[in-house]
Amino acid sequence: MRFENRNVLVLGGNSGIGLASVKGFAEEGANVHFTGRNQETIDEAMQTVPGAQGHRVDITDRAAMADLLDNLGKDGRTLDILFINAGIGGFAPLREITEEQWDAIHNVNLKSCVFAIQQALPLLGTGSAIVITGSIGAHSALPGNAMYAAAKNGLHAAMKVMAGELVSEGIRVNMVSPGPIDTPLLYRNPGVTGAQVDALRDKMIESVPMKRMGQAEEVARAVLFLASDEASFITAANLCVDGGALELR
Ligand SMILES: NC(=O)c1ccc[n+]([C@@H]2O[C@H](COP(=O)([O-])OP(=O)(O)OC[C@H]3O[C@@H](n4cnc5c(N)ncnc54)[C@H](OP(=O)(O)O)[C@@H]3O)[C@@H](O)[C@H]2O)c1
Repeated sequence: MRFENRNVLVLGGNSGIGLASVKGFAEEGANVHFTGRNQETIDEAMQTVPGAQGHRVDITDRAAMADLLDNLGKDGRTLDILFINAGIGGFAPLREITEEQWDAIHNVNLKSCVFAIQQALPLLGTGSAIVITGSIGAHSALPGNAMYAAAKNGLHAAMKVMAGELVSEGIRVNMVSPGPIDTPLLYRNPGVTGAQVDALRDKMIESVPMKRMGQAEEVARAVLFLASDEASFITAANLCVDGGALELR
């Protein structure tokens, strides 16, 4: 029960890694709020995780984020843990990248993550922890992955700067960088067929020294660790949960 009476907000908590983390936080006593865009999966998540409160809020909508945070901060309530996990994929070879795709991926995966932290700062204070989902894709050269890799690499850089700025306020900021994880994400890449995804999946498994995809719960356990008091002397860290894929290449 590491999170008893702790207030937790998970941005992107109705699917995959975010949902596994919502479950984990709730099972350990937290008061969990989470966001997503899809009302159906938000409702399903609230049924699966009794007590967790879902909110349909797009992370790129600054006004909706402000309303959510105003509500969560009513009566002087604060946030102990902020998990910034919302993210989208998108593959395109260099010759086919469009500005529209680039902007959409950078808006969700980089810009809005940083602004969400900026907007949440009034609710955070000494002892609070921020965890951000990165990706080992930020540090590898997977063909077709320039847009996503650039956004997540930017997020990694921003994470370190934010950790440095907030350390004197007693707020820790860390990143979890998953390798290939079995979640709906891979199947949500616009314009990529099921057969292409299966081929990509096989290639990803081949690139992992442990020769398998990871599970959302395996990433969630790392998120919970970094968010907990067990990680009290850890800030600006990037914890890879990738079966050795990044370091053992
Ligand atoms: N799966 C992998 O192999 C892998 C590897 C490295 C990094 N990651 C990162 O892990 C994180 C979670 O991904 P996942 O694998 O668990 O995939 P997922 O199941 O597709 O989950 C993505 C989550 O982000 C939310 N989201 C996306 N765009 C949003 C927006 N504009 N506003 C609010 N919420 C938004 C989604 O909500 P809706 O469903 O409602 O859209 C969903 O909750 C992402 O940041 C992803 O880049 C995943």
